[in-house]
Amino acid sequence: MKEKRSHFTGSIGFVLAAAGSAVGLGNLWRFPYLAAQHGGGIFIFIYIIMALTFGFALLMTEIAIGRKTKQSAITAYGKLNKKFAPLGYLGLLIPAMILPYYCVIGGWVMKYTILFVSGKGVRAAGEDYFTGYISQEWTPLLFFLLFLFLTLLVILGGVQKGIERMSKILMPVLFVITIIICCYVVTLDGAVEGVKYYLLPDIKKCSLVTICAALGQLFFSMSIAMGIMVSYGSYVKREINLTKAVNQIEIFDTLIALMAGLMIIPAVYVFSGEEGLKSGGPGLMFMTLPRVFEQMPAGQIIGALFFVLVLLAAVTSSISILEASVSMFMDKWHFSRKRAAVILVVFSILLGVPSSLGNGAWSHITVLGMDFLTFFDFFTNSILMPLLALGTCILIGWVTKTEVIEEEITRNGETFFRRGLYRLMIKYLCPVLLVVILVCYTLAQFGVINM
Ligand code: PHE
Repeated sequence: MKEKRSHFTGSIGFVLAAAGSAVGLGNLWRFPYLAAQHGGGIFIFIYIIMALTFGFALLMTEIAIGRKTKQSAITAYGKLNKKFAPLGYLGLLIPAMILPYYCVIGGWVMKYTILFVSGKGVRAAGEDYFTGYISQEWTPLLFFLLFLFLTLLVILGGVQKGIERMSKILMPVLFVITIIICCYVVTLDGAVEGVKYYLLPDIKKCSLVTICAALGQLFFSMSIAMGIMVSYGSYVKREINLTKAVNQIEIFDTLIALMAGLMIIPAVYVFSGEEGLKSGGPGLMFMTLPRVFEQMPAGQIIGALFFVLVLLAAVTSSISILEASVSMFMDKWHFSRKRAAVILVVFSILLGVPSSLGNGAWSHITVLGMDFLTFFDFFTNSILMPLLALGTCILIGWVTKTEVIEEEITRNGETFFRRGLYRLMIKYLCPVLLVVILVCYTLAQFGVINM
């Protein structure tokens, strides 16, 4: 049965939900590490420039496509131009492949949050605690399922009562926790050196690879080409000012990334030195940071706050990625929300189990030399997502022409200040930069370049 399309109640609900999607593990475990690796201030500068141009153009396009067509990715592209309907299937594949492994990681975060909140965080500082934990069979699986069901519960609540309501509660909490930890960390003894290391530009560490790293990070961080922003855009009411909303989402996401750097880099710098900043991702979050919290005064409290923050960021992102897939099943095959969500959860369990076991019992099974989780992450982020975004740029820049989006942006008489820039980006620069991401990230995965 076809259900009536849901809406966010207003601009704030939409902005917080979209920011909830954008602010995720990428902001917390990848941005600080990349900034540290690529010359601090100079990386930040490049990142902000890219956000204002590349990020802005792609985010705007996806949200406007959603609002214009009132469809999720699977049917939206075909509605704009029949020949581009296959892009919709790519739009379905991406979130469906990301959700399972993202929830596996979400499960790890949940385990660490419980550990720290219950006062047992010091255990996580042990040498092989993390590798030992993820190679177990049952506990990581259990937490994966818990995290997935938590996500499912919110989605079953629907757009307003589930997603919007949760985002309105969780995002302000996330923001406040970030500020508290930042303030604490920068006042630690010796933190000033770390802050300098983070903020002062070190041109020597900046190369072409830096630009590539900033681009890829931005792309992932703004939840572009995951089908999410098209779906969320389709829930935005016509009277809302899109430019303003997109600016607010970008500011929120970038601010949290910058503050994540401000809390993580000085802390690691003080207690583990530059060495500690050599790894990002799970290594930084689950190995380096617990050791930092062990040595930091009041580290167990800060650690608990930190993992609550990570959990909030991860949950609001996984909500958005499940919603993206659910809305596609509802639009294309007219499933009810409940049926779509349950089918997707079953599918996620099927794909998530190998991703979880791939670190232990099934570690001998690899795809292209990667364990399951790494493979899904690589295949979606480095291959499928740049391809979908590239297809979107060709469709909007060259087939339907950018006017389709411009009309949607200015439909209530708003002025579109960055119109010229927008056209230039979508037609020429974004496609080139997307190919750069595709090539660089593939080379980096196979160890040809270091990123
Ligand atoms: N922007 C998210 C992040 O930084 C990316 C993401 C969104 C990943 C939704 C998965 C699901 O983590």
